[in-house]
Amino acid sequence: MEVKDITGLESIQELFQEDSLELVDLAVHNYMRLMTYYRCAIKEIETKFNVLNEEFSLQYDRNPINAIKSRLKRPKSIQKKLTMRHLPPTLESIEENLNDVAGIRVVCSFVEDVYALAESLLSQDDIRLLEKKDYIASPKKNGYRSLHLIVEIPIFLAYEKRNMKVEIQLRTIAMDCWADLEHQLRYKKDSDFTEEMDEKLSYCAQLCACLDGQMSDLGAKVGIFNKEGQ
Ligand code: GTP
Ligand code: MG
Repeated sequence: MEVKDITGLESIQELFQEDSLELVDLAVHNYMRLMTYYRCAIKEIETKFNVLNEEFSLQYDRNPINAIKSRLKRPKSIQKKLTMRHLPPTLESIEENLNDVAGIRVVCSFVEDVYALAESLLSQDDIRLLEKKDYIASPKKNGYRSLHLIVEIPIFLAYEKRNMKVEIQLRTIAMDCWADLEHQLRYKKDSDFTEEMDEKLSYCAQLCACLDGQMSDLGAKVGIFNKEGQ
């Protein structure tokens, strides 16, 4: 059977045809530009969290943020989501309809830090909250816990200001550990999840929630969350 090599000469020649070349160039350029805007928005939010972390550590002598991870949604995932939702495959449609092209995950030490950081961020006057999902107060059926915020933040370009959407996930180390492993297990190809495995995962989520609770108790006992007297 002949396998079509899509990276082969034939397709490249098609791409390089004079009339399509200009269009492809323009489309790629505009797409990259939009992604650059999202990357700038990620940087803005990251800076805000880094500033909050520094301030906390100056004031309370400890870091509420354990790690910050960010990612830009890949073109293939963007295309998949638009198709699944029967949305037009345009840049306007991406900006209008997708909330998670720019994503930031903030891994915190304690549950208290998750809420304190979210509150501090949302009180800043250039941040507009579009959506909030508290999967800590109401975990998902499988046990997933995290605080999700969709915010809009302005980025300042040479001649314009643009408001960009960013998805922020705030969670503790224990929540992150569960979510990371659950993701690895669930997306393992060629294997179906049985009900028993679902129950085991949900039990593990309860253990993580219990761990967070115990750590918060200890934190409260040593006065880690006291705003005064540190
Ligand atoms: P999508 O963004 O299309 O998934 O849908 P949604 O708008 O309902 O988003 P939701 O806020 O529920 O979740 C968005 C993101 O949170 C996902 O892309 C994951 O990163 C994370 N997430 C949500 N549920 C789970 C889960 O059960 N397990 C893990 N590991 N991550 C999850
Ligand atoms: Mg998503």
